[in-house]
Amino acid sequence: MYRTHTCGELRVTQVNEMVTLAGWVQTVRKFGAITFVDLRDRYGITQLLFGEELNTVLDSNPLGREFVLQVQGKVQERSNKNTHIPTGEIELNVVSFAILNKSAVPPFTIQDDTDGGDDLRMKYRFLDLRRNAVKKNLELRYAVNRSARNYLHENGFMDIETPFLIKSTPEGARDFVVPSRMNAGQFYALPQSPQTFKQLLMVSGYDRYYQIVKCFRDEDLRADRQPEFTQIDCEMAFVEQEDILNMFEGLVKQIFKDVKNINYADQVERMTWEDAMWQFGNDKPDIRFGMQLANLKSAFLKGGKIQANGELINGAGFGVFDNAETVLAIAAPGCAEYTRKQTDELTEWVKRPQIGMQGLVYIKCNADGTYKSSVDKFYAEEKLKAIADAAGAKVGDLVLILAGREERTRKAISDLRLEMGKRLGMRKEDVFKLLWVMDFPLFEYAEEDNRWVARHHPFTSPKPDHIDIMINNNPLIENADKYLEHPYSNIKANAYDMVLNGNEIGGGSIRIYQRPLQEKMFAALGMTEEEALHKFGFLLGAFEYGAPPHGGIAFGFDRLCSILGGSESIRDFIAFPKNNSGRDVMLDAPSAIDEKQFDELQIKLNLK
Ligand code: AMO
Repeated sequence: MYRTHTCGELRVTQVNEMVTLAGWVQTVRKFGAITFVDLRDRYGITQLLFGEELNTVLDSNPLGREFVLQVQGKVQERSNKNTHIPTGEIELNVVSFAILNKSAVPPFTIQDDTDGGDDLRMKYRFLDLRRNAVKKNLELRYAVNRSARNYLHENGFMDIETPFLIKSTPEGARDFVVPSRMNAGQFYALPQSPQTFKQLLMVSGYDRYYQIVKCFRDEDLRADRQPEFTQIDCEMAFVEQEDILNMFEGLVKQIFKDVKNINYADQVERMTWEDAMWQFGNDKPDIRFGMQLANLKSAFLKGGKIQANGELINGAGFGVFDNAETVLAIAAPGCAEYTRKQTDELTEWVKRPQIGMQGLVYIKCNADGTYKSSVDKFYAEEKLKAIADAAGAKVGDLVLILAGREERTRKAISDLRLEMGKRLGMRKEDVFKLLWVMDFPLFEYAEEDNRWVARHHPFTSPKPDHIDIMINNNPLIENADKYLEHPYSNIKANAYDMVLNGNEIGGGSIRIYQRPLQEKMFAALGMTEEEALHKFGFLLGAFEYGAPPHGGIAFGFDRLCSILGGSESIRDFIAFPKNNSGRDVMLDAPSAIDEKQFDELQIKLNLK
């Protein structure tokens, strides 16, 4: 037997017991004739004491960091107790030991605060994974996994695997493709998600499906995106949107309970996409704090609530506002006392290329009732007050105003709001706020191709009372500048995203399940009948054989874990992640392949 106990297990109750432990050498501390060794495994650390006799053996067989060691010994109470670790009251008085394996000197020490930098960590990920901080993340991931499986199992969901080698039908992100040796010149694609398979499973009658499954997307990476990532993918038949929202609110609440011991009793808030864009400039608002946007000029959304504030800022001779497509403001609470240095710094912040604004206008709502601004030249004090009021500012607040092109300004003010929220401590890591964002537009206009693309995916159904708009109108966009006036831009989808603290953690929809409507959808996206049949003939065919009404959702499993773990980067929660250029630096992948492999595939490389 290699061990009787783990390194995290022994307590004073075991004093005088003879035990065997096995693990890795964390530290070796020699004090004259005796040596202390910290032995580590997945479960903890136990202090070993090598007495005089064994010390001479150690002298000829020195222990190094990360050696794999097996020890027999007697548990004894420590004179010098360590209250920081659960085993800190005891130590093992070693009687005999065996070095099971030696270790080269590790490139960084395996401790919480010494990770050697990102590149080194990733190259030696197997060592990095020994560190407590990383281990905790993987433990949290496993806890989320178990909680989700339990909940879904309890609710009658069945885990069914779907294939990884499928057909390429890029829509949204790019596909990763895999050449087929047996079908020379042809390629599989790796699934961006099991979307069509789960729908087929509904047609097959498996009315509650789930899978914790890898998805592959060849897209630009960010902290919350990996080329291969994991979804908790779910689908249900005979359901309406309300059924799905309730079921999966339940799932996330259960995960909160099991993993964080948080009782999320509140009903999850719901917001339409339009309100989210209007009030927060963003389709995944962080609702842990207010600081909502005020549109000081015009409505930016078709059908949005037109504000009458335009006259407040127009025509004052201040060109930046007068000529801007939009002028948006937030009121930062309690920031009227910002110094010149601070407002200058904020101005620099919005000018950074990532934000891309020309400048920032501010109004200070001073405690003495006066208003001071960076545009005093153009606006009399009562006008500044009116603008501050329109921005919802109170005495002591600092109104921050951005002006410019619609889309960029909206994105910038939304980023500024998040930044101010962070600076003002309003985005606390241990506060969790869920939100459903609903009623997304069904289509988005793709300028480069002058056509409609599905905002979610082409299987999402329009709102029932918007189906007619889709059927009765030609998708052709005659005037690209006026695409917003096309009836298609008004069609809302039966789609919903779940947002947690400003992150999209899941998204789904009620699906189209009738062939004619699905065909119409493909046509609306600019596909010819032949193209639609070539790409999705299997699905259209299946819809001919009794497809039930159905819908579903997929959660970004890695993202959910990282937010619950209080980190911005999903990489920390993936055992073997890729770096920002999509590389696995440990494996050195992707890499060139042998000439022989090309020959077998009958492929000749012709790099451009
Ligand atoms: P969607 O594309 O919205 O929906 O993906 C669902 C969730 O997966 C997460 N996610 C990612 N996580 C890490 N890296 C990525 N590259 C990445 N891309 C997406 C997000 C997202 O909310 N088939 C549909 C779901 C459905 O309609 O049921 C789908 O894949 O958290």
